[in-house]
Amino acid sequence: MDGKPVTSCLVLAVEADGTSITTIEGESVDGKLSPLQEAFKNNHATQCGFCTPGMIMSAKALLQRNPNPTEEEIKDAIEGNFCRCTGYRQIIDAIEEAAKIIQSEVRNA
Ligand code: FES
Repeated sequence: MDGKPVTSCLVLAVEADGTSITTIEGESVDGKLSPLQEAFKNNHATQCGFCTPGMIMSAKALLQRNPNPTEEEIKDAIEGNFCRCTGYRQIIDAIEEAAKIIQSEVRNA
């Protein structure tokens, strides 16, 4: 909401009124996966999909404010999103890979 991750089930509709909302559906553009989504796919960081939208939106907000996060900063950013399928190693690896890809894209732009 307005570029910051929120726990959507705890946000009242009146609080969201007039804000900009981006969901996981807004992460891909023209059907093309974003670098974060590609990294999650490449690292087998998704399975059931319940936690994945929260993980990716939390990671997106992290990488926007900190393009080169440490593993601890990644863990802090995804805290509160619980995955019971993959474990967290693949998710952390995916976010680290996405950070490298995004930094490379910025350098080559
Ligand atoms: Fe299953 Fe996250 S992929 S809970």
